[in-house]
Amino acid sequence: MLREIRLTVNGKARTFEADETTTLLDALRNHLGLMGARYGCGAEQCGACSVLIDGEDKPSCAIEAGALEGRAIVTIEGLGTPDHPHPLQTAFLEKQAGQCGYCLAGILVGAKALIDANPDPSRAEIAEALSWHLCRCGAHNRIMAAVALAAERMRAEVGR
Ligand code: FES
Ligand code: FES
Repeated sequence: MLREIRLTVNGKARTFEADETTTLLDALRNHLGLMGARYGCGAEQCGACSVLIDGEDKPSCAIEAGALEGRAIVTIEGLGTPDHPHPLQTAFLEKQAGQCGYCLAGILVGAKALIDANPDPSRAEIAEALSWHLCRCGAHNRIMAAVALAAERMRAEVGR
């Protein structure tokens, strides 16, 4: 059954009409035009669809969008822009942290959640936080190096 769904995405109020069972990923991609989060497994197992929900790294492929009214949703599009990239995006580019890039939208928001909660993560903590994000290209070492570099720069920016 169709219903009106109101979400807060990347700081903006967004309203659209969709079936009440529409997943958050479907809503983002097909109703709101935000194509960064990707469909991988559809079963909350790979992280390709990950977004931030109230600051936590969460899969969007199975949760119903209508259940998220009033929650703050941030997608990869909310991290930075080509003119003003997030330090994570800059570090990933510099380290060439990825090959096909399919996993990266999810990994980047997951890394943001980690650094926001823990500005100085160890290599083990980075690995643990991102462990549920699958990267079939095997770019793990460069991804971890990029996250560490971004965290270091973000600490330097705020004098930590
Ligand atoms: S597509 Fe959502 S976790 Fe794999
Ligand atoms: S860069 Fe291809 S799946 Fe991660």
